[in-house]
Amino acid sequence: MHKVHVLSVFGTRPEAVKMAPLIKELESEPLIKSTVCVTGQHREMLEQVLKIFQIVPDFDLKIMENNQDLSTTAAKCLEGVSQVIKELNPDFVLVHGDTSTTFAAALAAFYQKVPVGHVEAGLRTQNKYSPFPEEINRRLTASIAELHFAPTVENKQNLLQENITAGIYVTGNTVIDAMKYTIKDDSIFHERKLNEINFSRESSILLTAHRRENVGEPLIRICKAVKRILKDIKGLKFIYPVHLNPRVRETVFDILGDEPGVLLTDPLDVVDMHNLMKRCWLVMTDSGGLQEEAPFLGKPVLLLRDNTERPEALAAGTVKLVGTAEERIYQAVADLLNNEEEYSRMASAKNPYGDGNASKRIVQAILYRFGLADEPHQFY
Ligand code: UD1
Ligand code: UDP
Repeated sequence: MHKVHVLSVFGTRPEAVKMAPLIKELESEPLIKSTVCVTGQHREMLEQVLKIFQIVPDFDLKIMENNQDLSTTAAKCLEGVSQVIKELNPDFVLVHGDTSTTFAAALAAFYQKVPVGHVEAGLRTQNKYSPFPEEINRRLTASIAELHFAPTVENKQNLLQENITAGIYVTGNTVIDAMKYTIKDDSIFHERKLNEINFSRESSILLTAHRRENVGEPLIRICKAVKRILKDIKGLKFIYPVHLNPRVRETVFDILGDEPGVLLTDPLDVVDMHNLMKRCWLVMTDSGGLQEEAPFLGKPVLLLRDNTERPEALAAGTVKLVGTAEERIYQAVADLLNNEEEYSRMASAKNPYGDGNASKRIVQAILYRFGLADEPHQFY
C-alpha cells in the first residue's frame, strides 16, 4: 500500500504544543507515514512539550545557541532542513505558524519542490514590524504553501485578500485539540510552588511576556506596572513563568525578583500551564498561544501589545487590547477588580478557535490532496 510520507518540521515551544496533536493524528492514520524533524530552535522549552506528548523526533538539528540572532537561526534551519528533505524525499512537508523555523523549513521544501502545508495559516496584523519578524515569516510561508490550514474564517479572508484562493481549509486551531490532552480535573502541579497557592483566597494573575518587540523598555514598563498594582491593591498574586530568553530574564528578575506578591518560575510544562490558566483569575500576556487558550477556559485576557493577529477573541470579548503603558495596565487591572459585571462578560464569551478536531480535518485534507480520501466536507 502506498503511504503518503509527511515530514513535520517545528522548533519552538508554541509550534510543538500545536503540532503535537496533529503528529498523534498523523501517526494513527494507516495511509500516512509520519516523520518528525525538530530544528531545536528552542531547547529546554521544546523538550518539555515533546516529553508531555511523548513525541520522539526522528531528526533533531540542535540549532539553538544563546542569544542567537534571526539570520543565524534561519540560515541554520534552512541548511539543516534541506539536508533532511534530501535524505528522505517526503511527499509533503508540514510547518506551523510564523517562527524562523516555519519560514526556513517552508523555503527548504520549496527549493526541493516538495509541497508544503501551513498549519495556523492566515493570521495577520498587516503591520510588517509587529509582531516582528512573525508577520513576514507567515506571509512568506503562505506564498510558498500549497495547503493552508486556517484556524478561523477571518484567517481565510486574510489569505483571499492576498490572492491566495486555492487549498484553504478552515479547521479550527490545533491548540484546542492539545488542551484535550492537558486539562485535568484534579491538577497537582509538577512545579511544586504552584501547589502552595490558595486560588480561592488570592486573586491570581497569570503573566507572561516574551515578544521581541516588548523586550527592553516595554517589558520594563510591564514589570513596573505589576509593582505598582501590588503596592496599591491587596490580595493579588502574580505568577510569571519566565521565558528562557536571557534578555527577558534579566529585566524580569531585576525588577520583580524580590517582590513578595510575584512568583517567578522557570517555563512551566504545558500541562501545568493549561491547568494554572484554568485556575487563575486573570491572564496578562503578549503571547499568541495564550490568547487562544484563555477563551477556551473562560479566562479574561489583558493583552500587553498594541495590536493582534487574533481579532476573534477581541470581538468575542474575552481579550482586551491594553498595550504596554504602565498607567493603562494599572487601570485595566483596577477596572476589572471593581467591575464584576465586566469580568463576567469577558469570562463568559464564546471560544472562537474551534472544537478540538482541527488535527482530524488537516489529516483528511492531506489525504484528499493525494487522492486517498473523498473531498472533505466537515470544515467551518
Ligand atoms: C521564538 C519565535 C517567536 C515565538 C517564541 C515562542 C522567532 C523569530 N521567534 O521567539 O515567534 O513567539 O519563540 O516562545 O522564531 N532560549 C533558551 N532555551 C529555550 C528557548 C530559548 O535558552 O528553550 C533562549 C536562547 O538564548 C535563545 C533565546 O532564548 O537564543 C531566543 O530564542 P529564539 O527562538 O530566537 O526567540 P524567541 O524569543 O524564543
Ligand atoms: N506555555 C507553556 N509554559 C510556559 C509558557 C507558555 O507551556 O511557561 C505554552 C502556552 O500554554 C502556549 C505556548 O506555550 O501553548 C505559547 O508559547 P509562547 O507564549 O512562548 O509563544 P507564542 O504563542 O507567543 O508564539
